Amino acid sequence: MTQSLTDSLSEQLKSLHSLGLFKSERILESPQQSLIQADGKKVVNFCANNYLGLANHPKLIEEAKKALDLYGYGMASVRFICGTQSVHKKLEDALTKFLKMEETILYSSCFDANAGLFETILSGEDAIFSDELNHASIIDGVRLSKAARFRYRNNDMNDLEDKLRENQNFRHKLICTDGVFSMDGYIAKLKDLVALKEKYGCLLMVDDSHAVGFLGETGKGTHEQAGVLGKIDILTGTLGKALGGASGGYTSGKKEIISYLRQRSRPYLFSNTLAPVIAHTSLKAIELIQDDNSYKNKLMSQTKQFRSQLRSLGFDILDGQHPIVPIMVYDAVLAQRFSEQLLEEGLYVVSFSYPVVPKDKARIRIQISADHSQEDLDQALLALQKVAKRLNIIK
Ligand SMILES: Cc1ncc(COP(=O)(O)O)c(C=O)c1O
Repeated sequence: MTQSLTDSLSEQLKSLHSLGLFKSERILESPQQSLIQADGKKVVNFCANNYLGLANHPKLIEEAKKALDLYGYGMASVRFICGTQSVHKKLEDALTKFLKMEETILYSSCFDANAGLFETILSGEDAIFSDELNHASIIDGVRLSKAARFRYRNNDMNDLEDKLRENQNFRHKLICTDGVFSMDGYIAKLKDLVALKEKYGCLLMVDDSHAVGFLGETGKGTHEQAGVLGKIDILTGTLGKALGGASGGYTSGKKEIISYLRQRSRPYLFSNTLAPVIAHTSLKAIELIQDDNSYKNKLMSQTKQFRSQLRSLGFDILDGQHPIVPIMVYDAVLAQRFSEQLLEEGLYVVSFSYPVVPKDKARIRIQISADHSQEDLDQALLALQKVAKRLNIIK
């Protein structure tokens, strides 16, 4: 029996290799930051979600060390038994205030937050309307729920409205979307989504993992940027990207929803919460960016400049303002060659092809960070230009 399973997996692994879909992991021999050592080579990193450059920030390292003395290392328990310290409550309160929501519950990842949301609050009489490009954790979370499911085309408000109009007779209806679609850097149309949710009497859930900390006037995320603060019923997000980059996630929303999640959400009830060192340091990351807009401002102005320089060099990039900058190559093999040759030039970026993105829409995805210096950005442009010319991607 074991042999037949391992044989079958081994065949599938071979097939991933031959299709060019096998993912190998580079080993970083340095902390996560703009200049890293990867597989023995010094390169500039343009593929982390380290948007605000906090993943190796000296103040946060200092706070993390303090936290070990204050709270110890591990919790060795789930929250409702003996796994809640004052720092977990403080972080939940800080997120609630920062996001302008009613209450917040922590999870050990945003994947867990999404996986533990839908089946807990919805049942067979309810319906979920989900954007087709939503993150895997939303897709899995929705699958776990007994609610009816309707998938609408990415950011297509007409398609969503058709589905809402045709399916009005469910008890509770929930629209769910990523705040930012991570393969394209496109931002969800929250103003329109709020209008639709009000028109059809739905709830709206937004996963703001790629926005919390830097989009909007004070970095609250897509809801602030779209001018709909206070109008989103449920927000989920990660502490593993802009807010320090360690790990952890949360769900924020109406207090009844959050209280109910504490009682019934399985990844919360049956899994350890964040290590206190992460809870404390994430709290300090939030305080840091609340007191100091410079991280977010640097990120956004570097993004604007880099996007416009790429365009002047003749690159085909997807429109937008997000620090996720996809350079379209279309051909999967060419995209892979592009990223490999960029690495030789000291630039670490990743190529994406089918099935992660649609067929013939292969690309490399660049992610800007506030940790990048002007020199890093200049070096990246030079490398991109040199390799792209060599490969006939630009003239
Ligand atoms: C939109 C979105 N949601 C959720 C997650 C998962 O976050 P975490 O790493 O906290 O599980 C990610 C990370 O890739 C994401 O991009």
